[in-house]
Amino acid sequence: MFTDKKVLTGLKPTGTPHLGNYLAVIKPAIKMGKKAKEHYMFIADYHAINAEKDPVILNQKLKEIACIYLAAGLDPNKSVFYRQSDIPEIPEITTILYAYTPKGFMNKAHAYKAAVDKNRAAGKPDDDGINMGLYTYPTLMAADILAYDTDIVPVGKDQVQHVEIARDIAGAINAHYNKELLVLPEYSIDEHVAVVPGIDGRKMSKSYGNVIPLFEDDKAIKKAIFSIKTDSRPMEEPKNPDEILVYEIYKSIATSEQLQEMGDGLRQGKLGYGHIKNMLLDAVLNEIKDMREKYNYYIAHFNEVEEMLENGAAKARPVAKATLKRLKDAVFGR
Ligand code: TRP
Repeated sequence: MFTDKKVLTGLKPTGTPHLGNYLAVIKPAIKMGKKAKEHYMFIADYHAINAEKDPVILNQKLKEIACIYLAAGLDPNKSVFYRQSDIPEIPEITTILYAYTPKGFMNKAHAYKAAVDKNRAAGKPDDDGINMGLYTYPTLMAADILAYDTDIVPVGKDQVQHVEIARDIAGAINAHYNKELLVLPEYSIDEHVAVVPGIDGRKMSKSYGNVIPLFEDDKAIKKAIFSIKTDSRPMEEPKNPDEILVYEIYKSIATSEQLQEMGDGLRQGKLGYGHIKNMLLDAVLNEIKDMREKYNYYIAHFNEVEEMLENGAAKARPVAKATLKRLKDAVFGR
């Protein structure tokens, strides 16, 4: 489906990924990158500074995210892998896009609206603590997308609106100059990867404290898996697997044969909760074993990663430069 498309994935360097992030975001992004005609993947470090002001933390988060993607199988020879802040054309393109960004779009953008709602709930003035970086976030994101003639942006639901804004801005510019200056991007939501539930049944999320960790030791992973909510029905009682949380989580990691085995065992009353938790634990440990080793390697040899990021930027920059030139020529009538 994406074999003739240029796909771009943006990564926000925040938080330490857990199993849910890995299965629902990281793994599909890498898989899609392998299928696409061209794949760009970048770390949105300019976006990160709106919320994080501590350079030590910013640096640490950037390293973590870069190493996680490499450990999970991102091939920097196939995907153009770079840092947003290494491409000076991005802020230049952003400035041109501002002239075509209706302020009303920004008022309605969900990241800003969520911040306002939070202020209101706390009885604070609407714009308390909100900087212009957050407010104009979608225009910078539009530049990230439009700079590289992106066809497809894989996103989670929360980012759909931002891709639509990028498309609207590009459409307005093309219409104004009556020229295909910018490629109109589309978003894609992977319907196949459902939300991965956490150990309490709600969406797996750090803010709910219900995660299965990725980069902790086996003991911590086991502890989380053995805390997954179950009930007190005895093993012999036939159960509908779709009502069992361990099975729901297993769905996103198991092969179809493995899933069948757990499903049959539950339906026939042959597998108890201890069994199925061990099956899930094995699947998780098996999936992440190599990844944890590689991750530790890259963290310890970040100079190698740094070189990959610089090579990626060297490949990405000429494309952004060409877009900037097209825009400047049109805008200034050169
Ligand atoms: N806003 C995205 C997020 O929060 C990160 C991002 C920045 C991005 N620029 C992008 C994603 C361009 C896709 C394309 O996850």
